[in-house]
Amino acid sequence: MTPPKIVAIDGPAASGKSSTASRVAMALGLAHIDSGSLYRAVTWIAIESQLDLPAAIVAAARARRITLDRVGAELLVHAGGKPIDEVIRGADVTAHVSAVSAMPLVRNWVNDVLRGAVAKSGGAVVDGRDIGTVVFPGARLKVFLTASPATRAKRRLQQREGEVDSEVLASEASLLEERDRRDSSRAVAPLRPSADAVVLDTTTMTLAEQVAQILALARERGLSEG
Ligand code: DC
Repeated sequence: MTPPKIVAIDGPAASGKSSTASRVAMALGLAHIDSGSLYRAVTWIAIESQLDLPAAIVAAARARRITLDRVGAELLVHAGGKPIDEVIRGADVTAHVSAVSAMPLVRNWVNDVLRGAVAKSGGAVVDGRDIGTVVFPGARLKVFLTASPATRAKRRLQQREGEVDSEVLASEASLLEERDRRDSSRAVAPLRPSADAVVLDTTTMTLAEQVAQILALARERGLSEG
C-alpha cells in the first residue's frame, strides 16, 4: 500500500503558511488543512461558553460538533455543519488562542481530528506549528517557513488595510514576537523545526517563489508527476 501523501508546513504566526499551503495543495491535487483553525475554533467556543478547564473545553468542542468539512480543495472548520472560518479570526480569539493551544487535552483532541481528516482524504497539505514534529512525523515532505518579524507584520497588515505606518507596524511585530515566544516556549509540542524539515526563510521571497520552491521539493520526493 502506498503511504498517504502528506506535506507538513510549519512556522511562526503570519509566515504565510496557509496561503502557501493552500496553493501547494491545489497544485498537487491534495486537500489543504490549516490546523490553526481548529485551535481557533476551540478557543472561540471556550470564550463563548466562558470555560477555562481543558476537559470542559474539549467536551464543549465535541458537543458543538467541530469538524473539518471539504469546501473545494480546503478542509474548513465547521460547528454543527455551519462554517465558522470567519468568526474564529477575530482579535479576541487571537489573544487567547496560545493559552488554549498549550493545553495537552486540547492538543490531543485536535490531533485526532487532523489524523482522521487526513486518513479520510488519503493525504493532505497540513500547516501549523507541530505538524512535522508531532502530528505527522512520517510526512513525506516537511517545510518550516520563517520570515523576520517586521516582514511578517507588514504582510499581515497589508492584507488587512493597504499602506501601514511605522508605529502600527512596530506594534504588530511585537505582538507576533510575543505569540511566537509563547508558542515556542510551551512544554507541549513547542514551535520548532523538525530535524528533517527544509527551512525556508521567505523574508525576501514572493508567495509565488515560495510555492515554486516547495513544489520543486515535492517533485524530488515523488509527490507530483510534473
Ligand atoms: O496559524 P494561526 O495563527 O491561525 O494559529 C493559531 C494558534 O494556534 C497559534 O497561536 C498556535 C496554535 N497552533 C498550534 O499550537 N499548533 C498548530 N499546529 C497550529 C496552531
